[in-house]
Amino acid sequence: MELLHRAPRIAVYPGSFDPVTKGHMDIIQRASKQFDVLIVAVLNNLSKNPLFTVEERKKLLASVTSHLPNVEIDSFRDLLVNYMVYKQAHVIVRGIRSVTDFEYELQLASTNHKLNSDVETIFMMTNPKYSYLSSSVVKEIASFHGDVSDLVPSEVEQALKQKYKNVNLSNVGIDSSK
Ligand SMILES: Nc1ncnc2c1ncn2[C@@H]1O[C@H](COP(=O)(O)OP(=O)(O)OP(=O)(O)O)[C@@H](O)[C@H]1O
Ligand SMILES: [Mg+2]
Repeated sequence: MELLHRAPRIAVYPGSFDPVTKGHMDIIQRASKQFDVLIVAVLNNLSKNPLFTVEERKKLLASVTSHLPNVEIDSFRDLLVNYMVYKQAHVIVRGIRSVTDFEYELQLASTNHKLNSDVETIFMMTNPKYSYLSSSVVKEIASFHGDVSDLVPSEVEQALKQKYKNVNLSNVGIDSSK
C-alpha cells in the first residue's frame, strides 16, 4: 500500500443492516472508493426488535464485503458522534432513497452537527435500481417465502431462509401447498 503523508480519511456508514441488502452494498462499494477506510457500523439499538442479532448482522456484512480490503465491520451502542471520536473518523455516510429519507436524514445530520461540528455527513443517492429497497421490505417478502434473490447477496438469502424456515404459511391464511 502507498504510504500516506496525511491522516487517513476514515468514514463511518452506520445503520441497522437487519439484514444487509443490495441497496446497502451499492452504497458500501461506492463509499469505499472515496475514503481510505470505511467502517460499516451496526447500530446496537435496544429499542428495535431485530430479526438478526448484532453478531449475525456483522458476520453477514463481513462475508459480503470480504472483497473490499478497506472496509471494516464493527458495531456500537453509544451516541454516533462519540463513536466517531473513538474511531477518529470525521465523515458519516448515509444513503438517500426518497424525499422521506431526505427529511429524516436532514434532521439526523443537523443533530449530529450540533453535537460535534467536526463531524460531516455526506449523502449518496440511491442507485435507482434499489430506490424501493429496504431491510424491512426484504424481511416482509422472505417471511412469506417470496424470492429475494435480486434484493440481497446470496449469503443473506440463505440466512433468511434459515430464519423463516419454520414459519408455516397456513397459520397466516395462505395455503403454501398450492
Ligand atoms: N436501497 C438503498 N439505497 C440507498 N441507501 C439505502 C438503501 N437502503 C438503505 N439505505 C441507507 O442506508 C442507511 C442505513 O439504513 P438502515 O439500516 O435503516 O436500512 P433500511 O434498509 O432502511 O432498513 P429498515 O427497513 O430497517 O429501516 C440509511 O442511510 C439508509 O437511507
Ligand atoms: Mg430505514
